[in-house]
Amino acid sequence: MAKVLVTGGAGYIGSHTVHAFLDGGHSVAVVDNLSTGTRSAVPEGVPFHEADVGDAAAMDSILSDFQPDGVLHFAGSLIVPDSLTCPENYYRNNTVATLTLAEACLRRGVKRLVYSSSAAVYGLFEGAAADETSPTAPMTPYGWSKLMAERILADLSRAHGLRYAALRYFNVAGADPKGRVGLGKNRAPHLLKVACDVALGRRPALPLYGTDYETRDGTCIRDFVHVSDLAFAHVLAFAYLEHSENPLILNCGVGRGYSVREVIAAMDHILDHPLRVEEHPRRPGDPPALVAATDRIRATLGWIPRFHRLEDIIRTTLACERGQEAENAENKEGSR
Ligand SMILES: NC(=O)c1ccc[n+]([C@@H]2O[C@H](COP(=O)([O-])OP(=O)(O)OC[C@H]3O[C@@H](n4cnc5c(N)ncnc54)[C@H](O)[C@@H]3O)[C@@H](O)[C@H]2O)c1
Repeated sequence: MAKVLVTGGAGYIGSHTVHAFLDGGHSVAVVDNLSTGTRSAVPEGVPFHEADVGDAAAMDSILSDFQPDGVLHFAGSLIVPDSLTCPENYYRNNTVATLTLAEACLRRGVKRLVYSSSAAVYGLFEGAAADETSPTAPMTPYGWSKLMAERILADLSRAHGLRYAALRYFNVAGADPKGRVGLGKNRAPHLLKVACDVALGRRPALPLYGTDYETRDGTCIRDFVHVSDLAFAHVLAFAYLEHSENPLILNCGVGRGYSVREVIAAMDHILDHPLRVEEHPRRPGDPPALVAATDRIRATLGWIPRFHRLEDIIRTTLACERGQEAENAENKEGSR
């Protein structure tokens, strides 16, 4: 069984992945600066370090104390519109911090690293589905910050033997079907999270950005991957790196695209009433369609997403948000 240090383990994807590793019998520790994560998302008994991955001394000390077999690196900033107004924060927290972490790993003899990359590296993709050899042309500083970190890892791998996997996530959605962790508190305006907020009366309407794209119904098309499936892809990638020095760059998507209007229709169907939608002009940095070619991850890791139906992904998201709502109400009641 492996020892794994998870950066950003108090956030949405990191916390789901912590559970996937614990379920597999592995030993886990978390480092997170709690900028968007929550301490309560880290399961009891898992060692937690409140620290910044950009702090080399802190990372050196955590790595030498815990001596992990490898690191899963989720920590980062991901609000795409913010990256247009404050690009420096994205280069610092995503690119520079990844370099700092990777160097600390090399200093401490930790040679395995799984990195959270993004479909945003493809940018304005024109084909049916992006594969890992498709041209990269990010449309935002966020996408560039992720691609530059990939490049750093590739060079450190060649020069110093770092074994890494860059997993390019498409649109991550859903929540742990067992309800152990949820969507967290980051402000990223993920479509399903916002749709749930509207369904639960936390927001008045769902903003729909762009209805004039050259897609089948004029709205953007995205590939939704369930967070528990994604978490399991990390377990497989981490195991793969134990025996292989080959760097891995893998798309993590289901390979099927849904338009925003199709997502809204599926949500309406589940709720049995229409969501209130407000149409807006296109948002800068949104490519019209982004769907993953998934042959490589299926062939290399044997990864098969269990949640490939949009409806199931929406249901777990809603169930989790409703559960959270009930828990908050209970806590409020208890504190009276
Ligand atoms: N959510 C998506 O759809 C999506 C898609 C593509 C890629 N990603 C990538 O996946 C990763 C995780 O995303 P998420 O959705 O779980 O976001 P999140 O905000 O829920 O989680 C990020 C976690 O990292 C922590 N963190 C941020 N900067 C840190 C730092 N410098 N030091 C220590 N901890 C830090 C935050 O407190 C948080 O707990 C990110 O790197 C993101 O770019 C996410």
